Amino acid sequence: MTVHILSNIPISGFDNYMLDLESLLAKSVISTDPNITEVASHLINAGGKRIRPALAIAAAASAGIDANTSILLSGVSVELVHLASLYHDDVMDDALQRRNVPSVNSKWSNLIAIVVGDFLLAKAAGIAARLGQNTAQLLADTLGLLCEGQILEVNATYDSNRTVDHYLDAISGKTASLMATSCKIGALVANTDESLALDLERIGYLFGITYQIRDDILDIVATFEELGKAPAQDLAEGVYTLPIIIALADEPKGSDLRKFLERNSRDLQNESELEFVRSKIITSGAIEKSLAIARGYADEASAIGSGIGNPVAEFLGLMSSKLLDDVEATFEKRTAL
Ligand code: IPE
Ligand code: IPE
Ligand code: MG
Ligand code: MG
Repeated sequence: MTVHILSNIPISGFDNYMLDLESLLAKSVISTDPNITEVASHLINAGGKRIRPALAIAAAASAGIDANTSILLSGVSVELVHLASLYHDDVMDDALQRRNVPSVNSKWSNLIAIVVGDFLLAKAAGIAARLGQNTAQLLADTLGLLCEGQILEVNATYDSNRTVDHYLDAISGKTASLMATSCKIGALVANTDESLALDLERIGYLFGITYQIRDDILDIVATFEELGKAPAQDLAEGVYTLPIIIALADEPKGSDLRKFLERNSRDLQNESELEFVRSKIITSGAIEKSLAIARGYADEASAIGSGIGNPVAEFLGLMSSKLLDDVEATFEKRTAL
């Protein structure tokens, strides 16, 4: 289901930078305790797209700076924060699979996933602090936003009155803040001027919003094979995302869909109920409306990217639209069935 969003990025030597990043990332989680090293390396070894470090490298490149060790390390620091958030998120979501392998919580335990997640955060903080006070501060602030976003989401589970604004606040924190910071940290370490750094940060933010909306649409429209994990997990967990909020807003009082989603419980877990809710949402027009909202963010990103006036920034700006083209194709495939 992964769009190879970064293939063809116009940075010479990009693949080699990513290989160098990989070895720095592997080294960054080595502990004196081999058990910790094993758990901390589990998801790194399982793969992942490394989007956030790639954004850091690309932001520096769009300021004309090649990926030196400091820039690569800034990428390691954002990937470690992301990894830690996945360890913790899979505990929160009771997830069994991640990156096509058993999640840390399911392979070891919740306790191990939480503490080794903290270990990853400590490693990220150490790297950012060695890069400079500004990067340390940026990463710490971002982690705060990420937690605030996750808590907003947790507080709204099974809330059939959840609003679009509430959803957007939550995803700004949990996803877009780190994408924004991934661009910003690359720009900071590259010492770029303030206005370019702000533009790149905004592109990263808009990409993050688009990315999460896409993920939330795919949870409803994609298949197990496309996702590498069970679909409708958000519904099953009571996380009412954009398409669900939009579908609910148009539902009359007492409708079947409303009744299912207003139960405020974990009852909505069996396959046939989930399938009923999924198909109702799909036929309600809520996916098209969600895509239209996401397009607004993507259009702003491409306008900023082309305004900067270099090929890498332009590429970064267009990434959000490409994501949406991909999700539209998946949706059309599903509705053609
Ligand atoms: C997953 O992020 C969490 C979301 C923001 C939806 P990624 O899709 O970047 O996950 P990996 O790193 O490739 O596994
Ligand atoms: C992933 O969020 C973790 C963060 C963005 C912090 P989700 O719960 O929405 O994403 P997946 O579907 O588990 O990857
Ligand atoms: Mg999750
Ligand atoms: Mg979650």
